[in-house]
Amino acid sequence: MKTVLQNVFSSRTKHLRASEIRDILKITEGRKVISFAGGLPDPHTFPAEDIKQISSEILDKYDYAPLQYTTTAGVTEFRKAIADFSVSRGIRGISYKNVFVSTGSQESIYILGQLLLDPGDILIIEHPTYLAALNSFRLNYPTFIGITLESDGMNMEELEENLKRLYNEGKRVKFLYTIPTAHNPAGVTMSLEKRKHLIELASKYNFLIIEDDAYGHVVFDGEAPPSIKSLDEENRVIYTSTMSKILSPGLRLGWVVADEDIIKEMEMMKQSVDLHSSTFTQYIALEAIKRGVIQKNLPRIRKMYKEKRDLMLDELEKSFPEGCEWSRPVGGMFIFAKVGDKIDTGKLLAESLERGVAYVPGSGFFYDNSGRNTMRLNFSYPTPDEIKEGIRILGDLIKEKS
Ligand SMILES: Cc1ncc(COP(=O)(O)O)c(C=O)c1O
Repeated sequence: MKTVLQNVFSSRTKHLRASEIRDILKITEGRKVISFAGGLPDPHTFPAEDIKQISSEILDKYDYAPLQYTTTAGVTEFRKAIADFSVSRGIRGISYKNVFVSTGSQESIYILGQLLLDPGDILIIEHPTYLAALNSFRLNYPTFIGITLESDGMNMEELEENLKRLYNEGKRVKFLYTIPTAHNPAGVTMSLEKRKHLIELASKYNFLIIEDDAYGHVVFDGEAPPSIKSLDEENRVIYTSTMSKILSPGLRLGWVVADEDIIKEMEMMKQSVDLHSSTFTQYIALEAIKRGVIQKNLPRIRKMYKEKRDLMLDELEKSFPEGCEWSRPVGGMFIFAKVGDKIDTGKLLAESLERGVAYVPGSGFFYDNSGRNTMRLNFSYPTPDEIKEGIRILGDLIKEKS
């Protein structure tokens, strides 16, 4: 590092780890690599023609408003549309005042961390959990407690034991962060029973829940279970979701549904971050909702991802050796695989890249860097041929190392 930059960065930056995903993308730049690494939607799911048309019409329809500054919590009409759209996840009885628009849901996660966490505060997460949320929370120096994920969500006995212990020690949990539906990376979905139990525990032990519902609309095996927010009678759940998986991530639009007092605090925090999210894209998304573009597109997205998931599951069955396990997600974009104990997937990655296949080593998703024999495989972005070829290559490599 250049000498002028020595000792200039805050202690906080020690918690900024280069995302393994971005590192991987750097290595693969300019080379033909089959990537199971990123979390990109299939570009064929983007309703490009509709967005082109909407973009050319919104300036006539809304005059200069889409080009102007707007209020920090978002364009009121868009907030109203999101309040109505939330019914599709069972969330009723809210108004636009309960909705906060952010620059992707990632910004909401960041703002919530800033808003709720003091150094040392106890934060319960799933083990593993979404890497970018973990890194964002880390900036506030919390104490993490990770709860094992089972095929139907968190291990509730483990959660309850921890809550009891903390209560007996006179400690308070600030919030619990969960991705209950089509989990990234674990690919599991929390059962309705566990959702209800979680709400009960939150009430009993008095903590907030952040429900990250990024994939709530992208469930393709049956119906998604109702959101935890829809079961919430005490306003304990701060719900986040995003346009990234159902319309386009390039619009950078996410949102929160929560108690009005939380929205007001988030608004004040956002004023120090980016004043407001793009007015232009909020109007695009507003029109996309009004014209039914999203609602029409969802069955297409689900069909495409279901086919790709099925293909990847078939290929894993064919190519991965005995002793490997993987999730069977009912939705979302990821399969989480566990290989034999002998293999460190972080170390294996270089060889895998040499053979032309990228994945994300799983340990980054665990707050304590465990899970060294796990990997996250994205099935939404690669083509069917890439899924077949890539899983075969990866399977051969794992067999050699097992
Ligand atoms: C679980 C989860 N939460 C939040 C996000 C953030 O997405 P965005 O900022 O595009 O809304 C993602 C993106 O992959 C995700 O997987």
